[in-house]
Amino acid sequence: MCGIVGFTGRHQAAPILLDGLSKLEYRGYDSAGLAVRDGENETEVIKAKGRLKVLMEKTNGGESVPGTCGIGHTRWATHGEPSEMNAHPHVSDDGNVVAVHNGIIENYQELKDKLLRKGYSFYSATDTEVAVKLVDYYYKKYGESPIEAVNHAMVRIRGSYALAMMFRDYPGEIYVARKDSPMILGVQDGESYIASDVPAILKYTRNVYYIGNMEMARVRMGEITFYNLDGDEIQKELKTVEWDAEAAEKAGFEHFMMKEIHEQPRAVSDTLNSVIKDGKIDLSEVGMDEEMIRSISRIYIVACGSAYHVGMAAQYVLEDLARIPVRVELASEFRYRNPILDKDGLAVIISQSGETADSLAALRECKTNGIRTLAIVNVIGSSIAREADNVFYTLAGPEISVATTKAYSTQLIASYVLALQFAKVRGQITEEQCDEYVKELQTIPDKISRIIDDKERLQWFASKQANAKDIFFIGRGIDYAISLEGSLKMKEISYIHSEAYAAGELKHGTISLIEDGTLVIGVLTQPKLYEKTVSNMVECKSRGAYLMGLTTFGNYNIEDTADFTVYIPKTDPHFATSLAVIPLQLLGYYVSVNKGLDVDKPRNLAKSVTVE
Ligand code: M6R
Repeated sequence: MCGIVGFTGRHQAAPILLDGLSKLEYRGYDSAGLAVRDGENETEVIKAKGRLKVLMEKTNGGESVPGTCGIGHTRWATHGEPSEMNAHPHVSDDGNVVAVHNGIIENYQELKDKLLRKGYSFYSATDTEVAVKLVDYYYKKYGESPIEAVNHAMVRIRGSYALAMMFRDYPGEIYVARKDSPMILGVQDGESYIASDVPAILKYTRNVYYIGNMEMARVRMGEITFYNLDGDEIQKELKTVEWDAEAAEKAGFEHFMMKEIHEQPRAVSDTLNSVIKDGKIDLSEVGMDEEMIRSISRIYIVACGSAYHVGMAAQYVLEDLARIPVRVELASEFRYRNPILDKDGLAVIISQSGETADSLAALRECKTNGIRTLAIVNVIGSSIAREADNVFYTLAGPEISVATTKAYSTQLIASYVLALQFAKVRGQITEEQCDEYVKELQTIPDKISRIIDDKERLQWFASKQANAKDIFFIGRGIDYAISLEGSLKMKEISYIHSEAYAAGELKHGTISLIEDGTLVIGVLTQPKLYEKTVSNMVECKSRGAYLMGLTTFGNYNIEDTADFTVYIPKTDPHFATSLAVIPLQLLGYYVSVNKGLDVDKPRNLAKSVTVE
């Protein structure tokens, strides 16, 4: 979840590291630090608690730390509170090894005890300091190269890590090790770059290597050598990243989240166009042919957070259209549940980052159980994308805001396409019906644009909600799935307590929380369930609730019940999530802005959760 950047070349490292970290701050932002080396001189380490700008001020934008080789880090605390002491880089007792780390060393206490017995002392509460000192210990014990020392340490460490290290005896070089935490390495014009995420180095290079699990690398100016766990050199293919640098900038918007909300029509249409050829679904790039689709007995959707909410919506659509049993699971629960999996089942892992630790572990659990895996992933070359049997790439482009919007929308599109293809191939809908559904999907980008164009009403309504204590989102069926996402968007960026409830469940407990003026948002996009949810809204109103209704144009009688109504364009009810979520994203955004909060970097959160 932390961000890592490294550079070795002819240019000054610190400004490049700070610039890279500024693109990675969404990965963690409670402290930051740099280690820079000027030729053969001792490495200089500078750290600061708080946002990256504190470090920038402390180093005068990097100018006060000369040197052409360095590593940088922005932290999301796991072991040890956010403080300058616990910030990375960490240094071995005599300054021989300096490192930054992303991940968790699970057996750090055992390793720390061992190192204490060997005479090492510890200044921080972090697991990273233990890793650094372990590498230093093996380096000195065996007197071999850094690769051998790192190798010995990797065998002893349990957990996940992306490590970037510098050794006193090797000026101008950075050593990298990776297990279950993302890391890419780039080269351009005789200079080399390291990053935990593509946006950090996009401005400098698009030529990258993906380092595999349990692999190491020696990074020199413009030259990167890879090694496996046996210490043998391995060859890697240089890949080109297609994302352009501007995609990771704010482009005049106040926040990334608003920019990304506006990018949804484009992201949805790109994702759709990638699998529609001449009006027909074509999953050949995903690698799913008709025979395979026919052979699948059931679907397990496994994901976290918003991606899980996509799974909830997808479940209704898949079961209704394709008549195939679907089970949706939280990845963090799935992996410890000892799930009973049908050998003909298909596990669909949904993830924007492709690095979420629980989702990755769930994917591996499915593979161990011998069932086929399909990843719906946004980040090309991410761990989940590389390990899944099949990959459906969403084309959202880089998503920077911690609160997902455009990635969520593209994941929905991917799941609709799968549902339609399953439905057609398995004979639940005709070719003509499928074509009609596809045509309807093609209207979604334009309908999203229309909702975004009308955002001022929501801005006004949000300004009235800034002091709300609790907000409830209710709906049935697909509307319940929409409510889950609406509620998460609200709470994660506005810090207002909110809950999503299946509207029919309210009476079984939650309705006791409704007080005078409590905002209840009823989602009503499903014609068959409309009246039932209206009744549930009325029950809330009778207990003092203030009601917002979110429904499709035409359902004007909702205005007799709701105090404030938001309309979305008509679409097939299966696809309503794609439209109804937009006003809810805008609502969360404007409430957060109104409260003066940091929309893109909400407290305690990080963009990709690479620890359990
Ligand atoms: O990268 P992933 O899609 O696997 O991430 C899953 C969740 O961490 C993510 O959706 C999270 O819930 C977002 N903050 C929601 O806005």
